[in-house]
Amino acid sequence: MIMKKFVVAIDGTAASGKSTTARGVAKALGFFYLDTGAMYRAVTYKIIQEKLDIKDIPALKELLNRTTIEFRKSNDNKNLISLDNNDVTRQIRMHEVDAMVSPVSAIPEIREKMVEEQHRIAQDKNIVVEGRDIGSVVFPDADIKFYLDCSMDQRALRRGKELHRKGDEISSQSIKDNLVRRDQIDSNRQTSPLKQMPDAIYLDTTNLTINEEIQFVVDAVKNKIAIQNIK
Ligand code: DC
Repeated sequence: MIMKKFVVAIDGTAASGKSTTARGVAKALGFFYLDTGAMYRAVTYKIIQEKLDIKDIPALKELLNRTTIEFRKSNDNKNLISLDNNDVTRQIRMHEVDAMVSPVSAIPEIREKMVEEQHRIAQDKNIVVEGRDIGSVVFPDADIKFYLDCSMDQRALRRGKELHRKGDEISSQSIKDNLVRRDQIDSNRQTSPLKQMPDAIYLDTTNLTINEEIQFVVDAVKNKIAIQNIK
């Protein structure tokens, strides 16, 4: 039995297996799953739709003030993200969004608003939160932290499969270019860059199956819960 709310933080590079792992772990433990990357993607999608210049900070702030992001479940229990009450689950995974999301998420005003929303969503929940700055900024006191990484070739392969499944025909070279560029921006931005925290458990998913990744995290969480309950 967990007495207080338990926070699992999962950070890592793009396409390292974070989302699949986090979703599977949340399902196995009955925890809420919060995909913070999806929130940055939703805002990016809105900015693209409105053809906003991301250097125009007052306009960005105005846009944020009239933006609502929510997570819902579909009738068949799939995770959906809604932007201003419209389901954008599919749209936020398009390559166009991939190409813009890192510059958008480097903007401090955007991050401030997203982190505020993440705290609101996570309130009073046992939760698995996945992103880039979860263990460092959003939940520095998380009960357990993980940092996932994977070889570039394997990441490009995984992302390529995901995009092709969705009908987005994109060359493997441009997928790789996008991942390299996103890593570069996400790790070097001034506000909340991606970094491995000293108290995070490192997991290289290159040679692991999805089930192995999930099992590794679930076992570590269960151990941690058992230890906390003994104390
Ligand atoms: O996890 P993802 O690939 O869907 O995330 C998309 C982008 O969002 C990622 O390139 C950087 C940004 N992001 C972020 O800056 N902070 C987070 N906590 C999550 C994502």
